[in-house]
Amino acid sequence: MNETVRLLQAHHSSRKYKTDPISAEVLDAIIECARRAPTSTNSHEISLVIVRNADNRARIAEIAGGQPWIAQAPVFIAVVVDLYKTGLGVEKAGAEQVFQRSLEGIMAAVSDAGIAMATLMTAARAFGLGTVPIGGIRRDPQAMIDLLELPRNTFPVDGVVLGYVAEESPQKPRMPIESYRHEEKYHSEALKPAIDAYDQTLEAFWQKIGRTDGLSWSANMAQHYGTISRLIKSVAQKQGFTIEV
Ligand SMILES: Cc1cc2nc3c(=O)[nH]c(=O)nc-3n(C[C@H](O)[C@H](O)[C@H](O)COP(=O)(O)O)c2cc1C
Repeated sequence: MNETVRLLQAHHSSRKYKTDPISAEVLDAIIECARRAPTSTNSHEISLVIVRNADNRARIAEIAGGQPWIAQAPVFIAVVVDLYKTGLGVEKAGAEQVFQRSLEGIMAAVSDAGIAMATLMTAARAFGLGTVPIGGIRRDPQAMIDLLELPRNTFPVDGVVLGYVAEESPQKPRMPIESYRHEEKYHSEALKPAIDAYDQTLEAFWQKIGRTDGLSWSANMAQHYGTISRLIKSVAQKQGFTIEV
């Protein structure tokens, strides 16, 4: 099989790392891959903050709600939506940036952040590194903003952990393809059977790997999508992001 396809289809998050450093050459190449990724309207509205300092990684592990892999692995990259940068361009051209005050602006910027994340992870894995995306930094975005000294109109959306893997994790099963791939139109009738099947598959997977705290997909969704953190809204507003349009 084509090596890139094999790499993508073998994706799994890794949460046990060696402390071995990543060479500057490898890290530079990974970052260059993400810098070459597309951005909406060539906005360049993403910036990365590379965190290697052990104390700072330990702090981020704490901010993310106690995620030891952030402290263990040698590199954490914060993916920052950067409408400060674009604002400087708008200002230079004699106008006032309003994009950060729109749903369109937030959707475009978060899409670009996702592309940067995926590119960083794929490039890292091509170098034999393990990765795990980290949205947990949004548990306390103000602490991340303070730590990284982020200016107005920026937001630390996600991060990614990079390191050499100490212990491989098994690949997590996915929901049946019918819930994901829709031909010509959306097939809502495919969802409930797919969800039932996946709830069973995931419960069997947790049993197989000996995880006693593993939830079915539905229960996991109820836990995470049944509540909303209000903190993110107030911090985002303070940074300059609102949805007025
Ligand atoms: C945007 C995003 C944020 C995530 N945040 C975290 C996180 O904070 N901590 C973590 O351990 N995993 C995090 N994950 C990893 C998911 O839990 C993981 O991708 C999912 O369970 C599927 O497992 P897999 O990646 O091993 O296939 C995140 C994934 C994404 C895409």
